[in-house]
Amino acid sequence: MFYTEEDRKAGLPAIALETARRDGRFEREGLRIRKDGTKFWANVVIDAIRDGEGELIGFAKITRDITERKRAEETLERTREALVQSQKMEAIGHLTGGVAHDFNNLLMAIQGSLELLKRRLPSGDNQMQQLLDNALKGAQRGASLTQRMLAFARRQELKLQTVDVTELITGMTELLQRSLGAAVQIETHFSLGLPKVSADANQLELAILNLSMNARDAMPDGGSIIISARERNVQNEPGLKPGRYVCLAVKDTGIGMDEQTLRRATEPFYTTKGVGKGTGLGLPMVLGMTEQTGGKLYLKSKPREGTTAELCLPVAPTAEEVDKTDITPSAVTVRRALRIVSVDDDPLVAFNTLAMLQELGHTVFSASSAAQALTLISEMGDIDLLITDQAMPGMTGSELAEAVRRDWADLPIIIATGYAELPEGPAQAIPRLAKPFFEQDLADAIASIEASQTSRSSRR
Ligand SMILES: Nc1ncnc2c1ncn2[C@@H]1O[C@H](COP(=O)(O)OP(=O)(O)O)[C@@H](O)[C@H]1O
Ligand SMILES: [Mg+2]
Repeated sequence: MFYTEEDRKAGLPAIALETARRDGRFEREGLRIRKDGTKFWANVVIDAIRDGEGELIGFAKITRDITERKRAEETLERTREALVQSQKMEAIGHLTGGVAHDFNNLLMAIQGSLELLKRRLPSGDNQMQQLLDNALKGAQRGASLTQRMLAFARRQELKLQTVDVTELITGMTELLQRSLGAAVQIETHFSLGLPKVSADANQLELAILNLSMNARDAMPDGGSIIISARERNVQNEPGLKPGRYVCLAVKDTGIGMDEQTLRRATEPFYTTKGVGKGTGLGLPMVLGMTEQTGGKLYLKSKPREGTTAELCLPVAPTAEEVDKTDITPSAVTVRRALRIVSVDDDPLVAFNTLAMLQELGHTVFSASSAAQALTLISEMGDIDLLITDQAMPGMTGSELAEAVRRDWADLPIIIATGYAELPEGPAQAIPRLAKPFFEQDLADAIASIEASQTSRSSRR
């Protein structure tokens, strides 16, 4: 009754006595069975008892129930593992974010210069145009990868909008169907009257695309992907603020994931698809985007039973809740040549911005640090606009903005950043330009600054 069946088969009772006889003591922890048949963790000590002459006269056996201690140890071990895992993810996040940030700058320089080259190339040289297009495509693919890394590290610039999920998905099913091929069918199910969510529409589309491609990859022989959305009221849920959410699910009937894959699926660069096929950045992008938006990603999967990825996004505040004073300026703007001070500590980016601004017809004074920018602003006089990088050694872009506000309260500022995290405070209100940007993005940002300037002065 006392030993488990396995221990009995392994000959433990005899081994225990033999050890005690030879060494004087046998001690071990193991599973034992109580009289009522239940199992428990036991600490067993068997001492050999000898008489004065050293003759063995018997054994003393003490069995202690250590189930509680064992359970506490296991809980501790699990907590420790979870902690190590979350520290690991944080470290990977920092690393990924850092690498992505640097690559972003490099790609921006490459993309920007290629664009300008393309424009300056005499027309008619088709072969050169093709080569340039190819180079641009490569740079763009690189940029979309760094974008996913930044998303995972929750350091991408999100443009939060009010998004109608039903509309967004209906609008992209055709594209989805085309990019996934005819072997898979896309079905959509939406609850009626779903509230709108607060999200970055482009990023949300990308996330759905990533999830759908995973679903397709999991169904090599074809099948259907069901995309659905429903509303959820959250009261008490770890990782989600109480409130209303719209949950978007992408469900497939594919190969599914085992426990280990499921646990690691959202780790960046984790892929089971082999070199050149998977990047391992799809789910990390989805996870990062969702959490940065204030939502949560749920992954459910079992081998051979398919996978459901569900992302819950916060419902957008209704029109009444939004402060209506913040109406976007009218689009009518007079384009004029401006005197611009542009700051970036990275010479490649600085050169690129300079070239774009000149191409747009502006006069540019380039600085490589915030301090230098301040000197330029005061020495050149009549500056119309300051465009600054955020992450710079010494003084950051937002610190520069504060310094500028003190002496030149009316000077418009644009902060160019690949980071979502601007420090709390006045800097949050400054117009931002997400890196990497193209000439058109730059032109748009300047135009909207100009527009708000005119509308402000006409209100005065
Ligand atoms: N719908 C799915 N069905 C089965 N496995 C999946 C699914 N989605 C993701 N996975 C697993 O998670 C891994 C990581 O996914 P992801 O981050 O998108 O990278 P990638 O698709 O480049 O491999 C995949 O390699 C796969 O093993
Ligand atoms: Mg993928």
